[in-house]
Amino acid sequence: MKNLEELFEHQLKDLYSAEDQLTAALPKMAKKAKDAKLKKVFEDHLEETKEHKKRIEEICKELDIDPSGETCKAMKGLIKETEDFLDEAKDDDVLNAGMIAEAQRVEHYEISGYGTAVRYAKELGHTAIAKKLQKTLDEEYKADKTLNDLAEQRLNAKAK
Ligand SMILES: [Fe+2]
Ligand SMILES: [Fe+2]
Repeated sequence: MKNLEELFEHQLKDLYSAEDQLTAALPKMAKKAKDAKLKKVFEDHLEETKEHKKRIEEICKELDIDPSGETCKAMKGLIKETEDFLDEAKDDDVLNAGMIAEAQRVEHYEISGYGTAVRYAKELGHTAIAKKLQKTLDEEYKADKTLNDLAEQRLNAKAK
């Protein structure tokens, strides 16, 4: 990578891989969740995640680059950590609370990735692309808040 444009392209590919991996992981998380509301949060965010993936495809098409070909190792690790946790949780309430903890790590990772991508897009003068990425960033923030509310209102207390 020799300039900000190339760094931006790298970030987009990384995010694309992250969203792609999440698209496969979220249905499993929805299936394993032992709380109806938490299940719904995962199902809803799966639909948003598919849209996030599509948005990056559209952006890459506009920039004339291939979104595929990179693996986001951080997302791979986060998903592996979640799978390991699911094997270790021996109580339904603990499982729900721990799933929220893992899912929030994922959302925070995405928030930092999209935050950077929006800044780069603006710096490079890609105004419409920045707007599209900001839309995803807003949805990641919202997903994080929904998970947080669910933990605070009920699920952490139940796991006690
Ligand atoms: Fe996403
Ligand atoms: Fe997300």
